[in-house]
Amino acid sequence: MQNEQASSTALLIAASLVLLHSNPKHSGLVSKISADLYAQMLEMHSSQTRLLLKIIRQRWFRPIAKLSEHITIPGLLLHYALRKKCIRQLVRSALINGVTQVVIIGAGFDPLGFELHRDFPGVQFWEIDHPATQRHKLRALPEVGVERLHFVGVDLNATALDKDAVIKSGFDPAQPTCWIAEGLLMYLPVDIVTSLMRTLSSLSSSRSQFAFTFMEKQSNGRIRFDSQSKLVDWWLRERGEPFLWGTTRDELVQLVRPWHVIRVFDHNDLRQIESGLGDERIAKGELICLAEI
Ligand SMILES: C[S@@+](CC[C@H](N)C(=O)[O-])C[C@H]1O[C@@H](n2cnc3c(N)ncnc32)[C@H](O)[C@@H]1O
Repeated sequence: MQNEQASSTALLIAASLVLLHSNPKHSGLVSKISADLYAQMLEMHSSQTRLLLKIIRQRWFRPIAKLSEHITIPGLLLHYALRKKCIRQLVRSALINGVTQVVIIGAGFDPLGFELHRDFPGVQFWEIDHPATQRHKLRALPEVGVERLHFVGVDLNATALDKDAVIKSGFDPAQPTCWIAEGLLMYLPVDIVTSLMRTLSSLSSSRSQFAFTFMEKQSNGRIRFDSQSKLVDWWLRERGEPFLWGTTRDELVQLVRPWHVIRVFDHNDLRQIESGLGDERIAKGELICLAEI
């Protein structure tokens, strides 16, 4: 990531979900509250994102967006929305089953923590993110002073997650925790991913869970979405967010230890969680893993 700038991919996700919400065909996939919060991030970020926000809300822009998606990563917008729906369901189910802490790593502009903290009054929430992205989120949401929502800034490529800093912010390793790393691990090299797995496990009591996404390594060893164009490779490199890590489902089992894989969700599983998608394309290549300690 570029050190002083909020994550471009987090901004892309915010714009994608506002776009999806403004399309009557898919508006139900993104709640109004989420769409409004994402819009606020774009409104406050820069004059370019403010202009982008105006454009993506226009009806005439829809076919242009569809074409852009088609020539970059077909089905990416539905993938984002369904990935979020799947993870939200996993976290809600963990909370219903007694988890009392939720930590979202690489939270970006996702409003999940804000949404859940209202529905689960006894639960503590953390967002751990690159300081440049987190700074922008906090600036865009000045009323964030929610007592049960804590923020820790760390560049995971520069320094390991500091367990003491997390504990000092009120985190209790003896409580069952649900950790989330959505759309994050592919930007970290493998040694940082494995060390993060161990750090999180050492902070986790029994009954803790970890929901994360990973890129499925292709048979030629490349790490990318199935139909990702070269334009996307270039854009990710240019923005300082190239994909660095991916793995196969088999290798994953070893790599996440001491976590145990409970289930992996792919594009076919994501299709099942929303009715009425017909044969609409969902991008393939990023999977969701639910693991437990
Ligand atoms: C693609 S966005 C995903 C955001 C959010 N989880 C979502 O799915 O909407 C990537 C996130 O990873 C974070 N990130 C990338 N590299 C990081 C690093 N070295 N240290 C900490 N966070 C990082 C970015 O700040 C950003 O929030």
